[in-house]
Amino acid sequence: MKTLLSGRKMKAADAYAIEQIGIPSVVLMERAALAVALRAEKAADAFGPGCHIWALCGAGNNGADGVAAARMLHLKGYRTTIFMAGREEKGTQELQLQLSIARRLGIPVKTWERMKEEPGGCQVLLDGLFGVGLSREIEGEYKRCMELAGEILTGKNGIQEGPSSESVPQGTGIYGKYPTTSSKPWCIAIDIPSGIHSGTGAVMEIALQADETVTFGWEKMGTAVYPGRSFAGTVTVADIGFPKEALQAEPEEEEPISIAYACEKADLMRVPERKAYSNKGTFGRVLIAAGSKNMSGAAYLSALGAYRSGAGLVKILTVEENRAVLQTLLPEAIIASYTPEQLLGGREDFKEMIEEQMKWADVVVLGPGLGNEPYVEYLVEDILTSAFVPVIIDADGLNTIASHPYLTSYYTENIVITPHLGEMARLTGQKTEEIQADLFGAAFSYATHYGITCVLKDAATVTAGREGALYINTSGTSAMAKAGSGDVLTGILAGLMALGLEEEEAAYLGVYIHGLAGEEVSKNGLHSLLATELARAAGTVMAGTKG
Ligand code: APR
Repeated sequence: MKTLLSGRKMKAADAYAIEQIGIPSVVLMERAALAVALRAEKAADAFGPGCHIWALCGAGNNGADGVAAARMLHLKGYRTTIFMAGREEKGTQELQLQLSIARRLGIPVKTWERMKEEPGGCQVLLDGLFGVGLSREIEGEYKRCMELAGEILTGKNGIQEGPSSESVPQGTGIYGKYPTTSSKPWCIAIDIPSGIHSGTGAVMEIALQADETVTFGWEKMGTAVYPGRSFAGTVTVADIGFPKEALQAEPEEEEPISIAYACEKADLMRVPERKAYSNKGTFGRVLIAAGSKNMSGAAYLSALGAYRSGAGLVKILTVEENRAVLQTLLPEAIIASYTPEQLLGGREDFKEMIEEQMKWADVVVLGPGLGNEPYVEYLVEDILTSAFVPVIIDADGLNTIASHPYLTSYYTENIVITPHLGEMARLTGQKTEEIQADLFGAAFSYATHYGITCVLKDAATVTAGREGALYINTSGTSAMAKAGSGDVLTGILAGLMALGLEEEEAAYLGVYIHGLAGEEVSKNGLHSLLATELARAAGTVMAGTKG
């Protein structure tokens, strides 16, 4: 698992390393600057002779990193200029030290406005305006400076020329990523793109688009979620010598969300082993309560996801009208059915039937394609009150809860919800934009308030455990933004729980596997993915695990 930090947590870790362990701040800074300079060198070499590197620096330590990196590049013979924003005399001690060294070496240091007049522009730009110290919306002089930098980075002032592919050595990883015929400079963000909130990924009024980000110690949460993620480009984490103990340090101002985790390929080993001495009962029984009249697809996809991710037995509980089509689509599934009339005519009998089904199940999926007929409320209530196993609630299950909030009183620690942003907005009464502005906060608050697991689905899905642990997903592609993807996800989560994983682990690992499955299918192009292929590919991804 990768560890990601909020800016405040990072500052606490930094202070711990310096004050408690005694690593001099300037030692950390030299290593950080060297990591940035090494990337800048590659970009400059790809451009070839005549490359002009600019370091755009603010008055904090992010700026100091930029000045130190500029000095290293100057000493290697690259043409380098430092542009300063903010009041130098009010800058940090480290910044003043770095600037004094740079000046003694004869490196040009100019104010940011002079970027307009610099003949030939730049080909590589180091963004050292703000790092994790950014604490409020950007305005005034800084905003004007960033607007100008933005114009330069988008090639709008017409004088820049980026690295050209002709000079690019092939097969060396990073080089292949440079633009082929670019009139734009290559931007390397130092630690985090300026203007991105290091904890939430929000744009603080304005932000600089980087081609790559070199971050220090641990990746920042703000570059793992959107929009920060799209501003960061490729993120490289540079080891600059922080000891692991530094993670114990708590931010000065208490903050509920300061650390998050992300799955890596090695985490696929968490999928339970599929023992040789086993039968279908060994791998769990999944009950999918889904589908309504003329809506059988979601139930099918969820059931398919559960089978493909390893469940031993899958039963679909749905309306009678769906029986024939589901039996045809997925003969491997058991079908149990009801009629809404049956429910409305005899609530007690219906409840008894649900109780029986719940006794059978090891895991329940509740919601895909259920629709919004009045009887759905009773179905949701009866399942929530009689299930003593994990219940994954999605789609119309969540919409029903949103319109009948008393249903949340039946939440138990076994509940996993999988809302997309719109469903989360309905559940919480917030606006979608508010949810989007702070995915970590939204998932965390809901999960900890109700003591359940919350999978908040977005291009970068955030999972919050019932005690507030946060997981950010890094797998997946835009090909997955298609009808049915979410239904397959519920099935994958159920399949993993049926194999024996507990709710939280199944949730974040299932989201990761679902994303890897999307990547697998996207190898055929980003446009044509079908949700059924996603389910099949989930099985392939899991075949790569020890199970
Ligand atoms: N507008 C103007 N000034 C601001 C704003 C804003 N919106 N937000 C914060 N500041 C001020 C803060 O006082 C902050 O300390 O700008 C300062 C500079 O920001 P940073 O350089 O990000 O902060 P600092 O803590 O000095 O350095 C952290 O140093 O360890 C390196 O690169 C690493 O990101 C890390 C950085």
